[in-house]
Amino acid sequence: MPRKYDTTRFAWALTGSGHDLEECLDLLMKLESVDVFLSRAVEEVLVMYKYIERLRAAGIRMFHDSTASAVPVGQFYENNYHTLVIAPATSNTVAKCVAGISDTLVTNVFAQAGKCQLPIIVYACDTEPVVITPAPGKMVTVYPREIDLECSRRIGQFEHTTLTTNMEELQAAVRHRVECLNESCS
Ligand SMILES: Cc1cc2nc3c(=O)[nH]c(=O)nc-3n(C[C@H](O)[C@H](O)[C@H](O)COP(=O)(O)O)c2cc1C
Repeated sequence: MPRKYDTTRFAWALTGSGHDLEECLDLLMKLESVDVFLSRAVEEVLVMYKYIERLRAAGIRMFHDSTASAVPVGQFYENNYHTLVIAPATSNTVAKCVAGISDTLVTNVFAQAGKCQLPIIVYACDTEPVVITPAPGKMVTVYPREIDLECSRRIGQFEHTTLTTNMEELQAAVRHRVECLNESCS
């Protein structure tokens, strides 16, 4: 019997954050089977940080936010995915997800994955009161607001959702999921 991991894939959503964006790309490119869902903002940010060519060269299937009804979410109803990862997740996307809003491709993917009871891993950028993060060409320090921190906490309380707060936790959550799939757990 084929392993579930052979027949279904990771869905990986990228949002418009520069925080650990390169590290997230490195991690997703190591996965055997993955489709990428791009927010409109990350399409711009990938160009600003000069990562877009690397992602294109990897030959990974990419879905763009170009329809009002988020047409690519239909993939989730076809049982094409075993796991959704949103990494990095901007404070904007996290806030919308927590409020139950699904008006972009990534917020739709989060909502539909939830409704399909898929395991979800979110790497929220704003989980600490002080974040040192790369802007194009330099490092900057930002101070997430209480609303940003609160939304990050709340997304981790959603059904089937694992909140990760740094790259080590994200790597461990993805590794755990791969191991679980290889052992045929759900
Ligand atoms: C270079 C650059 C870096 C950014 N980094 C972050 C970030 O680390 N965290 C964040 O929440 N927003 C960041 N933003 C702002 C988001 O891109 C913006 O809020 C956007 O509306 C998010 O849309 P999305 O959540 O649909 O991707 C950044 C914007 C730019 C131009």
